[in-house]
Amino acid sequence: MDKLIITGGARLSGELRISGAKNAALPILAATLLSQSPVSVGNIPHLHDITTTMELLGRMGVDLTVDEKMNIEVDSSTINSFVAPYELVRTMRASILVLGPLVARFGEAHVSLPGGCAIGSRPVDIHINGLIKMGADITVENGFIHAKAGRLQGCRLVLEQITVTGTENLLMAAALAEGTTIIENAAKEPEVTDLAHFLNKMGAKITGIGTDVLVIEGVEKLGVDSIHYDILPDRIETGTYLIAAAITGGSIKLKNTRPDILDAVLEKLVEAGADITTGKDWIKLDMHGKKPKAVSVRTSPYPAFPTDMQAQFTAMNAIADGVGIITETVFENRFMHIQELQRMGADIKLESNTAIVTGVKKLTGAPVMSTDLRASASLVIAALVAEGDTLVDRIYHIDRGYDHIEEKLSQLGATIRRVPR
Ligand code: EPU
Repeated sequence: MDKLIITGGARLSGELRISGAKNAALPILAATLLSQSPVSVGNIPHLHDITTTMELLGRMGVDLTVDEKMNIEVDSSTINSFVAPYELVRTMRASILVLGPLVARFGEAHVSLPGGCAIGSRPVDIHINGLIKMGADITVENGFIHAKAGRLQGCRLVLEQITVTGTENLLMAAALAEGTTIIENAAKEPEVTDLAHFLNKMGAKITGIGTDVLVIEGVEKLGVDSIHYDILPDRIETGTYLIAAAITGGSIKLKNTRPDILDAVLEKLVEAGADITTGKDWIKLDMHGKKPKAVSVRTSPYPAFPTDMQAQFTAMNAIADGVGIITETVFENRFMHIQELQRMGADIKLESNTAIVTGVKKLTGAPVMSTDLRASASLVIAALVAEGDTLVDRIYHIDRGYDHIEEKLSQLGATIRRVPR
């Protein structure tokens, strides 16, 4: 297994280009299953989860072509299987995103149940119940969701809880249903919005995009003409590099990003003492060499502070001036990074869903273990300021969601290298 070795102490500076958003690319690639014609998707990030999605679609018989710029052309007309097998779903829960499109277009899907993961139990009952309400016949047997359906029927869905991939699955299904579907209490994450714009470009009739009530007038066919769509920039990758610079007292400019979808994160960085300036597609952060001030954050669905940035802020608070209170309300167990940060000298007390982080003068390098994607990012961030070397093990988690992280950090002046297994 590859490892990262990071020597702390370098102040980050320079410019970076942000990649396309993983969590928009995954549903959009799944949504290509709905298209009659080949679809081309651009600004695809270079990530393990993308490779897994391509393998998943490939195993179903879908034809995929990738060019040197990571544009992926997907032709689903050759599909010959409607199965998402356990060995792929196990490595990437987002495989569940093929459920809605398969049922809606082909009337059949067999998707392995994802099960729990490092950040919580993560059930998919809202996805399943929504499809049942739209007329699908669904059974769960031998660890698989088996779905059969004629044409799905539009209906009113009031989601019990805000769910990102749940909203996406139901949105994709509703796009081909007969009649109108209304999804209330829908997730408003920018990645859901990006998927809705993609579906509309393929001919779907979705209104209320960006709000928590999505109205979908079903159409008979999608993607009658070939289209090209570029994925929106990754707001979590953006936030992660901003924190990486902030913790080192650095100064960076991130390009090809979207400040307008990062309000909650940028506000907290300003509170931490960062000077932030933005343009339409760039963000500059300057700490003027200062140490960050501790900030308190409470995670919640968009537009509030994202759970996917919680671990990174925990790491920043670990060496900040003062005490920061981190409250996680989206996932019940998203604190696996804390024990590893403590091994680097952090002073963190965990009380149920709240972490009380008291900034210390210094962290020290240590061998640490990645447990999930964002937890791993927080360890890399802490390592950037730790005294000596930190060896981050099991970085396949990082490779799932960060495009060439060691190259990008090196470009900003960090001392980081990958050690192959
Ligand atoms: N939930 C249910 N029932 C459901 C679905 C969700 O109870 O049927 C609960 C979950 O257990 C959780 C809450 O609802 O407590 C919210 O989970 P959500 O469904 O929104 O999460 P997700 O769709 O599985 C996506 C992202 C995550 C991100 C969350 C929250 C993708 C592929 N994944 O997950 O991204 O943390 O939304 O914003 O879009 C990551 O990129 O590192 C990552 C984990």
